Amino acid sequence: MNQDAKTPAVQASRFLATCRSEVTDCTPIWLMRQAGRYMPEYRAIRSKFPSILDMVKKPEVAAEITMQPMQAFELDAAIIFSDILIVLESMGLKVEFIQGEGPVIREPVRSLADVEKLAVRPPRETMNYTLEAIRLAKKELADTPLIGFAGAPFTLACYAVEGRASRDFSTAKAFMYNEPEAWKRLLEKLASVVGAFLREQAAAGADALQLFDSWAGVLSPDDYHLHNLPFIRKVIDRVHATAHVPVIYFSTGTSGYASLLRDTGADVLGIDWRASLDALWAQLGEDMALQGNLDPSILLSTGEVVEQKAIEILSRAAGRPGHIFNLGHGVLEHTPTDNVRRLVDLVHENTRSAG
Ligand code: CP3
Repeated sequence: MNQDAKTPAVQASRFLATCRSEVTDCTPIWLMRQAGRYMPEYRAIRSKFPSILDMVKKPEVAAEITMQPMQAFELDAAIIFSDILIVLESMGLKVEFIQGEGPVIREPVRSLADVEKLAVRPPRETMNYTLEAIRLAKKELADTPLIGFAGAPFTLACYAVEGRASRDFSTAKAFMYNEPEAWKRLLEKLASVVGAFLREQAAAGADALQLFDSWAGVLSPDDYHLHNLPFIRKVIDRVHATAHVPVIYFSTGTSGYASLLRDTGADVLGIDWRASLDALWAQLGEDMALQGNLDPSILLSTGEVVEQKAIEILSRAAGRPGHIFNLGHGVLEHTPTDNVRRLVDLVHENTRSAG
């Protein structure tokens, strides 16, 4: 859609070349939640706003926060500062971020009638602030690629029904089992909004798109196949039909589901630390690009441990062209910035000869 507007330098960047499984000069790295509370620069801005949503809704602020980790570290891609839960808000749910508790939806979805009430509106009307933040960040980034994102329908449905973060999302799953028709309707509506939102992000200038399916691992493989996969496919097919940008599908707890992950149609799979890269490639085929998969808690250890564990991941990747270095989940709050710098530099230095 927006492809013609992209500069050749962005297309040839380490990150986008690796999404296409092409050989590069070294392994690219970016980190989920690379902008956030572990950075003093972020905390300085954060203290001026009551909630993260207030920052997300100001495009200049969101663009500025997007750039903070880019200025601090030699990262190969930026990710737009936003949150997956704005999609639920756009559909009429009231999302609050409560200090120390995380997101809360006080009137969650619990019936077919609640599902029917959810609005499906054009993202340009409801979430234009993130599209505008993408346009602003693109100007700052020059030739560095920018990643747009959205929550996957299943993970969004977990929050919509459960009303808060949970270990097992048992309320959401009970709804899925007890009211399959209402569940299906909910996921269809979510897939429709998420698909449209991702397309708009690509049109606004996002060079790649990531779908966050953080809680997919609460499903058995059969339930994943029945209740999640069709809606991921719908979103990804819809993006691929109009936007020429790679789609990264990130999930956790799903490394035993290699063939299902392949069936998502994603260009890149983001994986957690519960499987080794080489074992997954053996199941997926080496043409699949993989992103990951350092345990984020490693970054709370000493610099020596960070280096040793990063080298373990790199040796599992064995210089394969389709490897994007990342964590297996987002950067944790108390991560020392020195460890992030050390990791980013090590990945580049240790892989430079491989390219
Ligand atoms: O990666 C990035 O740098 C972009 C920013 C980003 C945020 N949220 C900002 C944020 C991204 C990609 C997300 C995605 C997101 N949001 C996910 C999927 C990834 C994951 O971690 O599983 C989920 C599940 C959410 C929902 C969400 N937002 C939760 C559960 C929380 C509370 C927990 C927490 O870490 O505070 C948030 C809040 C949130 N989103 C913060 C940030 C920087 C912290 C809020 C603050 O600064 O007060």
